[in-house]
This record gives sequence, C-alpha cells and structure tokens, in this order.
Amino acid sequence: LTAHLTTVRSQKTKIGFVPTMGALHQGHLSLMQESLKNNTVTVVSIFVNPTQFNNAEDLAKYPRTLERDVEKIKTLSDSIIVYAPSVDDIYEGNTKSTSFNYDGLEFQMEGAHRPGHFDGVGTIVKKLFEIVTPDNAYFGEKDFQQLQIVKKMTEKHKLPVVIHGCPIHREPNGLAMSSRNERLSEEARDEAAMIYKILKAAKTKFEKQTAKEVSTFVTNEFNKYPNFQLEYFEIADEATLLPCKRKSKTRKYRGFVAVFINNIRLIDNISLN
Ligand code: PAJ
Repeated sequence: LTAHLTTVRSQKTKIGFVPTMGALHQGHLSLMQESLKNNTVTVVSIFVNPTQFNNAEDLAKYPRTLERDVEKIKTLSDSIIVYAPSVDDIYEGNTKSTSFNYDGLEFQMEGAHRPGHFDGVGTIVKKLFEIVTPDNAYFGEKDFQQLQIVKKMTEKHKLPVVIHGCPIHREPNGLAMSSRNERLSEEARDEAAMIYKILKAAKTKFEKQTAKEVSTFVTNEFNKYPNFQLEYFEIADEATLLPCKRKSKTRKYRGFVAVFINNIRLIDNISLN
C-alpha cells in the first residue's frame, strides 16, 4: 500500500480514507461516495480490529465477507484501493491497545459499557492513519461517539487529516444499517424498526419536555417489548457527550440508545434540536 501510494502521490493528490470492519452495506458505501466526490484517491480499509472488541464471542461472530465486500466496492468505482491487512500486519504479534485520553468523551455511553473499546478504536485508527496518510477521513454518525473521539484524537495528536462526519443510512423500515443486523432473524429485524420510531417520538417530545421526562418515556416504550433489553438511553450534549441535565438553547443535543435484541447489541442515535 505504501509503495502504491508513493507512486500516485503528487502535489495535487488528495487521499480520502474510509476505515471499516467489512460486511459492507449502503451506510459504508455512502462514506465511500463522499470520499470519491472530494478526493483524487480513495482508500478503504477492511479490518476486523480485535483490540476494540470487549466480548470474545462478538469478535468471533463478526461477519467476514471480503470477496462480497470487494464486489460491492467495485460497483462504486474500480479505482478504489482496498486495504485488507491481517492482524499480524497491523499488530506484529502484540495485539494490544495503547491508552488514550479523549478529555472525558471516553467515559460516557459506549465507553462506560464497553471497557477498553475506545482505546482499541484509537489504536487502530491512529495506526491506519499513519499507513494510509489520508488528507480526509470519513466516519458515520451512526457511531457518533466514535466520530467525536476520532476528532479529538486527531486534534490532540495533531494528525494532518480532516475528519468528516456523514449521516446515518437506514433500512426502509428505519433500522440503522449495521453489519450486526446480518445476525438478526427476519422477525427481529422487523421489530428493531421500533428503535428509530421511539427515537423519533423522543425528538418530538424533547420540544416541550425535559430530558428526564423524555428518558422516562423512552425507557417505558422499550419495556413494552419483551425481546428488547435496553442497555441505556441518554440525552447528551453533542460536543461534550455529557448527559443533558437542563436544556440550554445554545447547545445541540442527541438521544443515544444501546439495546439488545435476541442478544445482538444495536446502537442508534438522533439529533434532538
Ligand atoms: P464499522 O462498524 O465497519 O463502520 C465503518 C464506518 O461506517 C464507521 O465510520 C461507521 O460509523 C460507518 N457506518 C456504519 N453504519 C453506518 C450507517 N448505517 N450509516 C452511516 N455510516 C455508517 O466503525 C468501525 O467499523 C470501526 O470502529 C473502525 C472505525 C473501522 C475502526 O476499527
């Protein structure tokens, strides 16, 4: 990859980068389209990063579909560079994360429920940035906390790359696209459409109600469905990710949810104001 990038790089080259863990869907492809529009070269990495999984079963069961992924990428453009390293290529026998300080972003929500997860994400994203040397990198708002964390890491380490956030792609029934959806039964996929319905209802309620009232409403809604186990619902400030105690007109808020359905953990979020 490095040799190839050296041959294509010139003063005018802009390298766009989309890191993924594969099992690609339209959400991933939309990030690639954004990169293709704004760069001369687009690199997509496909790497199931072991250090960001805090659950061995989740890592083992993560779908690995490289050939199908490459076919999907080719439908967008045959000039996209696919980088699919092995665990050893990346970790050289030392599959460990380094620890990162993201000024507290890491203690909220996903960070609180998935110990070590964001150290793993920081470790792999930093390594990939060093290998790919992108000018622009594209991340989905589907993983909003990850997007903010990557921005923070880039800023703190003064990495010469601009981080772009891209909107959440959804199934026609509203379910946020995710590689993990492949593990849901058809019934569970249908039922999982409720997640977005509840988030949209929360957004409407947030116009008039307090964060606490909206949170109680969301919890009660999820409790109506025995197949759902709500892990958290949180209304947080977009920039700090701290829970919203009292609404401020000058701040932007989002509702964040993590829910298990038939033991598959799904996350989603919505802008509230
Ligand atoms: P992965 O889950 O494969 O996601 C790769 C990128 O696609 C992330 O930026 C994610 O936010 C984005 N994405 C996923 N589903 C999306 C959707 N429905 N709409 C829009 N964007 C979506 O996130 C990771 O991999 C890893 O943590 C990674 C950054 C690659 C580091 O290992």
